[in-house]
Amino acid sequence: MPSSSSFSFGAGGGGGRGGGGTTYQNLIATKMEEFTGTSDALTNACAFALCASVVGLVALKLSRKTMTMMIERSATTREQERGGGRKPKTTLKELKCPSASDDEKVTITFYYGTQTGTAERYANTLVEDAQKRYGLKQIFARAVDCEDVKPDVCEEVLSSEKCAVFLQSTYGDGDPTDGSADFCRWLEETATDGRMPDMLEDMHFCTFGLGNRSYEHFNAAAKQVDKAISGLGGNKMMKITLGDDDKSLEEDFEEFKEALWRQLEKTFQLKAEGEEGDFDVEKHSYAIRKEEDAEKVNELTKIRERKSFEMSRGSEIPTQAKPYACPIKSRKELHAGKSDRSCVHVEFDVSQCKGLTYEIGDHLGVFAENAPDVVDRVCKLLKVSKQTPMELVRRDDAPKSLLPVFPGPISVGIAVARYADVLSMPRKTAIKALASFATNKKEAKELDLLAVDKAKYHAYVADPHRSLLEVMEKFPSAVPTLGAFFGCVAGRLQPRYYSISSSPKDVTNGSGIVTATVAVVKHKTKTGRVHEGVCSTFLQNVREGDRVPVFVRKATFKLPKDVKAPVILIGPGTGYAPFRGFLQEREYLLKSKKQELGECMLFFGCRKEEHDYIYRDEMENALSEKVITSLDVAFSRDDPKKKVYVQDKIQMKAKDVYKILRSPNGAVYVCGDAKHMSRDVNRALLQVLQREGEYAIHEAEEIIRRLVVDKRYMKDVW
Ligand SMILES: Cc1cc2nc3c(=O)[nH]c(=O)nc-3n(C[C@H](O)[C@H](O)[C@H](O)COP(=O)(O)OP(=O)(O)OC[C@H]3O[C@@H](n4cnc5c(N)ncnc54)[C@H](O)[C@@H]3O)c2cc1C
Ligand SMILES: Cc1cc2nc3c(=O)[nH]c(=O)nc-3n(C[C@H](O)[C@H](O)[C@H](O)COP(=O)(O)O)c2cc1C
Repeated sequence: MPSSSSFSFGAGGGGGRGGGGTTYQNLIATKMEEFTGTSDALTNACAFALCASVVGLVALKLSRKTMTMMIERSATTREQERGGGRKPKTTLKELKCPSASDDEKVTITFYYGTQTGTAERYANTLVEDAQKRYGLKQIFARAVDCEDVKPDVCEEVLSSEKCAVFLQSTYGDGDPTDGSADFCRWLEETATDGRMPDMLEDMHFCTFGLGNRSYEHFNAAAKQVDKAISGLGGNKMMKITLGDDDKSLEEDFEEFKEALWRQLEKTFQLKAEGEEGDFDVEKHSYAIRKEEDAEKVNELTKIRERKSFEMSRGSEIPTQAKPYACPIKSRKELHAGKSDRSCVHVEFDVSQCKGLTYEIGDHLGVFAENAPDVVDRVCKLLKVSKQTPMELVRRDDAPKSLLPVFPGPISVGIAVARYADVLSMPRKTAIKALASFATNKKEAKELDLLAVDKAKYHAYVADPHRSLLEVMEKFPSAVPTLGAFFGCVAGRLQPRYYSISSSPKDVTNGSGIVTATVAVVKHKTKTGRVHEGVCSTFLQNVREGDRVPVFVRKATFKLPKDVKAPVILIGPGTGYAPFRGFLQEREYLLKSKKQELGECMLFFGCRKEEHDYIYRDEMENALSEKVITSLDVAFSRDDPKKKVYVQDKIQMKAKDVYKILRSPNGAVYVCGDAKHMSRDVNRALLQVLQREGEYAIHEAEEIIRRLVVDKRYMKDVW
């Protein structure tokens, strides 16, 4: 095999047919004879040496050029790959429903509002499946990102629709996703002002909500969209489907899809022509460009990283699409004694990145890597060495739902570490793809069944939360090609967010440091597997000087502008994170700006005083320095007979809490667990209002509602 510096396509790689050394020698001798006009061996050897040096120089120059091109190409793909780059503005013409010249053809638009890409993936899948099922003669299907439908064109775009399906995810505390917020606000405002009750009378629609039942406001954004479209005259084809990520969104989506087909066939007299069920693995796979020289690829990866680091050193603002490879300043364990859990304080040195600015309450997006043992297991299953160099190449006929490309050339080991989500549950399409590669007939049959049989998928994958890695280990004969693995088997590893636990105005560190307070996830799943959280474990193991890609996501969780406004901060566990920043900011205002501050009650909670009373010294100092006016700490496991939580402490301080709740500019902040704590705190606040203010429950609820509307009751919960 020639050790070529050029790329070859296909999983087989290489491309060159093997030639023996003697054949080449004979060929060279003949060519040199032709060139010099003599058969003298010495003359021809000298001529060959001269030619070789010239060719060598040209080759060297070329390969440098190729390297530069490859690096530049990678920078562009990185922009696209993480999907957070600035999108080109979509024109009204593109957005408006294309009025088919052929009246028989139904245009179906799948609108999606997404935060982490699931709704977008579902929308693209529906487009492909609808096209396969009904054929292009009956329908035209398209997916539209709600982010592209700006308020000034909403009316025109939506009123041009005859058939629309909304796939809306809920984020934050019952909010629409960042990108779809304007679209949802426009819908709600237009529907509630009641001026256009018939605006969408031509539209048939239905909604699939992406949510999680353990959140207080389950699928709130999807419910809001569904109600608003109805309010504007849309004809509801079927009841809203509330997908639940706490159980299995994948299964809810499958059910929704089946119901949708039935409904479309009824409403628009469509006829199923094809079977959308046959998942085309080849179409959903990347071609793989193979580079023979592993050394060169490693060097390229390093150059690319250095380049991306240098780009961020200027004033460029790091984004999800183009994060900053940030050096770690330090990391320390916050739990003490015999705690069986871990929580780490990580300091990111952002002093060299002028574009990375933040305010208290913002979130830090972090791209983690899979642990080395996970990477080893995956490479073993793929039957490929970690060092194997590769690059993904999108085929011309690749569908939109193909997972995004990532920069290459890159070694398989690094690609798996950075991009492959192997610890989440496999999607049904991933199982279908695996089935197509299984060489063992029994395994192929079982995988095929798992992919189509709802009950089997539920029992084997969804209910016990089996990871893709576990499934692949159970069916080892199913070895996907690298192109299929990165194209349709393993999802892309997503960034994780952390509430920044520092202030750029911190008296000691200033703006050069961003800190995160990270609870390390480690739990046993039903199958007995110990799940070690990808990002939290990664951050638990980072060392000084390591570089981690990060970016800042702006949030609205801020202290009141009026520094005299009284505030209540409620943040047990890592929920204290943003409040650490708040306290640093207050200390700065108090000490450096000599400002008079309003009252500040801090409620913190943890399991045991000895183990996880994190940042205790800082909180107690803040109290003694009058940065806060009270500190109440609940220990839930110190007294085996009585569990005390923050909500109990709130009740104990009911009079003071009530005073702030009813003061004209008082504000309440809650951070941490969305599933239990935030609901319990809400209940406690309602009880305080009822008891201290003698309000009826509906009055107390109205007071809380007003506080939310006025942004005086804010939550940063996850
Ligand atoms: C806006 C925002 C702010 C956040 N701020 C912080 C913060 O300041 N500090 C912080 O530590 N985290 C914070 N998080 C959570 C953080 O983003 C990660 O989700 C968390 O660190 C886990 O990521 P991971 O990759 O380690 O775990 P993953 O590999 O993603 O695994 C987590 C999954 O494991 C499961 N799981 C976790 N714990 C258990 C359990 N005990 N029992 C059963 N299943 C479980 C859940 O299904 C969960 O989805 C925040 C999240 C958001 C969205
Ligand atoms: C930080 C965070 C907040 C969330 N808030 C809610 C919520 O308030 N209500 C809800 O039903 N689901 C909530 N979810 C669940 C998401 O809606 C769900 O995971 C969905 O599948 C995400 O889809 P997407 O990838 O298209 O954004 C939340 C998820 C996260 C990570």
